Amino acid sequence: MTASNNTAGAILEILRGEGSYLSGEELGRRLGISRAAVWKAIQRLRRQGYRIEAQLGRGYRLLSPPRGLNVHEIRRGLGCKLLGRKVHLAEEVASTNTWAFERALKGAEEGEVFLAEAQSGGKGRMGRRWFSPPGVNLYLSVVLRPRIPPAKVPLLTLTAAVAAAEAVEEVTGLLPEIKWPNDLLLKGKKFGGILAEARAEADLVDFVILGIGINVNLSAEELPDEIAPMATSLKEGIGREVDRVVLLRELLKRLERWYLTLVRGGGEEVLKRWEELAAVRGREVEVKLMGERLRGVVMGVDEDGALLLHTPSGVKRVVAGDLKVRRW
Ligand code: BTN
Repeated sequence: MTASNNTAGAILEILRGEGSYLSGEELGRRLGISRAAVWKAIQRLRRQGYRIEAQLGRGYRLLSPPRGLNVHEIRRGLGCKLLGRKVHLAEEVASTNTWAFERALKGAEEGEVFLAEAQSGGKGRMGRRWFSPPGVNLYLSVVLRPRIPPAKVPLLTLTAAVAAAEAVEEVTGLLPEIKWPNDLLLKGKKFGGILAEARAEADLVDFVILGIGINVNLSAEELPDEIAPMATSLKEGIGREVDRVVLLRELLKRLERWYLTLVRGGGEEVLKRWEELAAVRGREVEVKLMGERLRGVVMGVDEDGALLLHTPSGVKRVVAGDLKVRRW
């Protein structure tokens, strides 16, 4: 966050605590800045969507926070050590993954979060697009710099799926199901997905961009025809709107906890939790790979997060693909 953003954040906290009017002079005195600097910060907050009343002779009073996503709101009470130390928010980008990737190439630190209200070219797995209309959902990408070999990157997507499922349960009371590798479902319909993109040397990852998309307050009528039969949102699931900031904070907290568990050698713990939430073991499935279909019974996932399938021609290890459950 920039210095002026920090000033705006500090003013916000003071106004929140005060609950009533506070003069520009008093605000300036408490922060050791001029009244002109206070005024500039107030303008900045208003541009971000805060409604702040100004009355002659009384000063400023906070009326309401913005409706949209907002960096101050996200960081307030986040309590993460790593994730969200820096949060970047854009109205619209092509893809938060592409944005984060470019910034990681230029040295963005581990834990930086790139968020957008809309994506014009949201990317899904296997070259698909991710429907990303403005103002209703979550589209975020996190820069991670784990010291792991490239083969272990799929484990990060499983980690993110666990964190997202738990965050959704905490905030909405609905426990989603995870479909391998990382689709998030409610009653069989997809509302969230994860796309990890890595830059790596032969045996070590340089960085991983962990992109997470969650349909939060999207209405069923807004879904394009081609995805409408298979897609849903949390609002559709619980019948009311969900506070995106609250969900995002919970997601970042859980992601940090599970990510640190993973990089500190707790891969088994992550996999165990993923298997509990995914419940695919023993299911008869069909996996679509590039031009190939594999049928078999799921034996579980291995230590790298690959799916182990018991097929008529022996045990197959599947690293990527689309899974359909044929029999529950
Ligand atoms: C999937 O196909 O299931 C993965 C979808 C991932 C979408 C998210 S939205 C934020 C981030 N930016 C992107 O362009 N994609 C991911």
